[in-house]
Amino acid sequence: MDYKEHIAIVQDWPRKGITFKDITPLMDNGKAFKSAVDEIVDYSKDKEIDLVVGPEARGFIVGCPVSYALEIGFAPVRKEGKLPRDTIKVDYGLEYGKDVLTIHKDAIKPGQRVLIVDDLLATGGTIEATIALVEELGGVVAGCAFLVELTYLDGRKKLDGYDVLTLMQY
Ligand code: PRP
Repeated sequence: MDYKEHIAIVQDWPRKGITFKDITPLMDNGKAFKSAVDEIVDYSKDKEIDLVVGPEARGFIVGCPVSYALEIGFAPVRKEGKLPRDTIKVDYGLEYGKDVLTIHKDAIKPGQRVLIVDDLLATGGTIEATIALVEELGGVVAGCAFLVELTYLDGRKKLDGYDVLTLMQY
């Protein structure tokens, strides 16, 4: 399927110089959204995944239907101050800013095989931080899946040695 026809390109958002890839038209199209989720599910099937992990907020939108289809759990990675119980945290850099990501300490059991899902791979800061959280808890990153990859930002260089799927490249 040509998913790109369902991505809206927004110039100078959220700030000047950034060309934002908006996935909401894809989410709004039931067939396209299901097809994208199904591709990630198919990619995961031979990986013996125990748990899906997704960073807020759009990682929830793509990751939760994947976990539902695989009949396994979903653990949220959230910005600081959003998770109510004991967490571990990591600082990370974004395409446009800096932030802190956290995960509940008991979200992953050592040795569990984790699929990380997000909407977009840009600089790779978010996935690098999410991998660090998963691995600190003893999880094994069995795959990383994204709808969109911005190849010109070279986030892939942070994913050397990891198994990566992206459905669209710009
Ligand atoms: C966006 C996007 C990815 C991340 C990709 O999320 O949804 O998670 O940036 O960029 P990177 O590869 O340069 O890290 P954002 O941090 O804007 O959070 P949001 O989904 O909560 O708006």
